[in-house]
Amino acid sequence: MNISILTVFKELYEPFLHTSLLKRAQEKGTVSINTLNFSDMVAQKQRIDAPTFGPGAGMLIKPEVVERAINAAEQQHGPAYKIFFSPQGKKLTQPLLKTIMHSVQNAGHLILVPARYEGMDARVEQKYADEIVSVGDFVLMGGDIPAMMLLEGMLRLIPGVVGKAESVAQESFSGPFVDYPEYTEPVEWNGMRVPDIVRSGNHAAIKQWRMEQAARKTVKDHFTWLRGYPLIDEQKKLAAGYIPAHYVALMHDQVLVGPERQVATSSVMSIDIHDIARSSCTYGVKNFFIVTPLIDQQKIVKKFLSFWQEGYGVEYNQNRHQAVEAVVLESSLDAAIEAIEKKEGKKPILIATSACYQQGSRQISFYAQDRVWGHDRPVLMVFGTANGLAKEVLDRCDYQLNPIHGFSDFNHLSVRSAVAVVLDRWLGINERYEKTLPE
Ligand SMILES: C[S@@+](CC[C@H](N)C(=O)[O-])C[C@H]1O[C@@H](n2cnc3c(N)ncnc32)[C@H](O)[C@@H]1O
Repeated sequence: MNISILTVFKELYEPFLHTSLLKRAQEKGTVSINTLNFSDMVAQKQRIDAPTFGPGAGMLIKPEVVERAINAAEQQHGPAYKIFFSPQGKKLTQPLLKTIMHSVQNAGHLILVPARYEGMDARVEQKYADEIVSVGDFVLMGGDIPAMMLLEGMLRLIPGVVGKAESVAQESFSGPFVDYPEYTEPVEWNGMRVPDIVRSGNHAAIKQWRMEQAARKTVKDHFTWLRGYPLIDEQKKLAAGYIPAHYVALMHDQVLVGPERQVATSSVMSIDIHDIARSSCTYGVKNFFIVTPLIDQQKIVKKFLSFWQEGYGVEYNQNRHQAVEAVVLESSLDAAIEAIEKKEGKKPILIATSACYQQGSRQISFYAQDRVWGHDRPVLMVFGTANGLAKEVLDRCDYQLNPIHGFSDFNHLSVRSAVAVVLDRWLGINERYEKTLPE
């Protein structure tokens, strides 16, 4: 495989290409890498860059300079797969590295085009780029380090570049889980011992332990990656075991009622119970608490529950029965908290939900699972009926989730819809990559 790097600073690649595994891969002939300076594409004292058109400062590499460099590289090594670098490009991930690696293997020649200054004239990318790659949502001074990152990531996937094939087969981000923790000598270091299991010699037990450690770490620190990955049932089950127990409470007490938004009680609605029970069941919520202190309202709920939990509803609709089975009536939020503590042995972390933002550090986004789950406690998500939760409830919650909103001014979701959206954003699987179904 031939790789041509077209750059402003060829010298940056000197130690990089002549050290360790990259050096060995070239010596073995697995890959041949050459660098070409843009300045060699212009006559002496001619500039390779020019100012951008329009207001704003900055210089761009001239399109004809890049074109000449591409032509020179292709003349020497044949038609190439061409990768440009830009913070606006496609985010570099392990799956993208694999896709690129296959395309490059097919082409036999890869051209990397890292830019400098303000970047490239947009027309060059339009004409030549097979892929534009970003290494993250930040801006560097140039594309050379991104190009080196891509090279390292891609070349280690090519058989023979890294010693053992298994070193690259099961690593972070090549599957749903990140890597498990690894240890070497000494067995005891700074008062910390290597876990006994790792040195037990029991390969099956070590394999199981590693898988569990990997799943636990991924759930805790890389939940967004995990739920974007097409999981098989076994992986889903393993991961689910490390998500703390979640509960939902629907408040018909301490809510804001009427145009004056007085703190009062509200009426239960059977459609809320049905729909929230079904959403809760879908996202693995352990119990859905309906909170009302009013005796007559409690009677209605009890009647509803007895129909679906033990009455005719059980055989009438099994799925509905399954969902409603986890619904629990409580007279106050404290009673729901107590019930969770009794079951889990720990008080839950309370997450409030609201259609408005709250001032302060308790406001969290839908990406803050690591922060909440780091407490290693069950989680109770509290939803309000009527015009939402009263301040006294919001104030006692540990966190408040960002309101749900779209690109419109309308901000009046039903609580049933809000629960569904919140649960999906907080706990839902949402594959980012195609799932290949078995034939
Ligand atoms: C200063 S940057 C230009 C940034 C550009 N004006 C923007 O805001 O998108 C110069 C060059 O560095 C490279 N570069 C900078 N940050 C990068 C990133 N996160 N990923 C890939 N390339 C990057 C690109 O080649 C880019 O054209």
